[in-house]
Amino acid sequence: MSRSEHPLVEAYRTFSPASAARAEHAQAVFPGGDTRSSAHYGPYPLVMESADGCVMTDADGNRVLDFMNNFTSLIHGHAYTPVVEAVQHQVALGSAYAAPSAEQIELGELLRDRVPSIELMRFTSSGTEGTQMAVRCARAATGRQKIMKMEGGYHGSYELAEVSLVPLPNECGPLNHPTSTAVDASFPDSVLADTIICPYNEPDIARALLQEHGADIAAVIVEPMLGSMGMVPASPEFLAALREETQQRDIVLIFDEVITLRLHEGGAQALHNITPDLTCMGKIIGGGLPVGAVGGRADLMQLFSPNQERPVMHASTFSGNALTMAAGLAAMRNYNQADSERLNQLGERLREGFNQVFANAGVNAQAQGQGSLTNILFSSAATGNARQSMQAMIDAGHIGPLLHLTMLRHGVMSATRLMYCISTAMGDAEVDRAVAALEASVSELLPYIKTERPNLLAA
Ligand SMILES: Cc1ncc(COP(=O)(O)O)c(C=O)c1O
Repeated sequence: MSRSEHPLVEAYRTFSPASAARAEHAQAVFPGGDTRSSAHYGPYPLVMESADGCVMTDADGNRVLDFMNNFTSLIHGHAYTPVVEAVQHQVALGSAYAAPSAEQIELGELLRDRVPSIELMRFTSSGTEGTQMAVRCARAATGRQKIMKMEGGYHGSYELAEVSLVPLPNECGPLNHPTSTAVDASFPDSVLADTIICPYNEPDIARALLQEHGADIAAVIVEPMLGSMGMVPASPEFLAALREETQQRDIVLIFDEVITLRLHEGGAQALHNITPDLTCMGKIIGGGLPVGAVGGRADLMQLFSPNQERPVMHASTFSGNALTMAAGLAAMRNYNQADSERLNQLGERLREGFNQVFANAGVNAQAQGQGSLTNILFSSAATGNARQSMQAMIDAGHIGPLLHLTMLRHGVMSATRLMYCISTAMGDAEVDRAVAALEASVSELLPYIKTERPNLLAA
């Protein structure tokens, strides 16, 4: 049975006719009917009309709990009053000056004071630009070209940041020497050649690869949690090995905390008590507006200083714009260690509830992750690296996307890859509603799992 004919897809169409009608217009203006690939899903995404706190309302008036939060960026959910007030105030005073604003400096100070590795920092317009600038800084500092990144690691929307993002079993090579693979046909060979791929959570392999290639490597970039490939937490031994080996070889260690900053007031680096040389940030620090940042050791960050003879070039029209800075300052002033601990506990509650649902239904699936960040994978055990997550996605086939659509009908929005994150607008009641929605969705899916994907049933 093809995906578009599946009864659960038909049920989704019946649930969302107004979105379906708008999707036809979108088809005629955007390739594939969408302007952002990561947020797209079939047969068409719900068209949203408004959002408040943790609830979004679509074009048909369906209300869904937002566990997606624009891919983890809305730490306070939608239309959070302090952010709304800060934005209203600032927009009337002008949105972008190409000059510093008080809020820009204050938000910079707040982040510097919280995140252990940051002595100096720069704002960027996106997380993508933040990781790009970190890599350029590392290359300029070391005079080396190559970058080591993790298999399944995602650092933004450009080639280097996506090498080996999707480790297909027939392409990814041996675990101890992963092949640098392109995710699409746009990748220059030079980028693949300059990127050394390391498997996640394999400290011994990481050490061996750094021993082999270290002299040519400018930077190792790593997420403290493999976000795109199933919210896989890094083991402390893995991050410690990267820290030790990079230090010994004068390689710049970059933590990409674009997602993980929310796990602790000082980011995942504070949780792990490991200090990288550079840290990339984004998402929550902009209060819901586009943002990114890079910060770290003063001697490295000084390479961006306009007072240098040949500074690392960093322009970017909207970096540090007054509107984003006002929104970000309002959001971050209202997010402290106690808030992050509360959200992390809610995340635990969500994972426990989800896992109980799967156990009761006899389905091999896991809610895994850390703190307020969760991902469901159809696997009998939590995954530890990108290959295992990829295998779980392959095993699930169309069941993963069908669960996503069915959860929407039951009032819960996640990423299509079944990533759920918690905002401060949520409490126990919302988490429990998500668990109830999963229970209802899994019971609808179960007959199809039995006939179409029996491999997902527990033995
Ligand atoms: C870990 C990580 N790094 C970088 C980025 C890129 O950020 P942006 O989408 O703001 O460019 C993302 C985005 O999802 C991310 O998850």
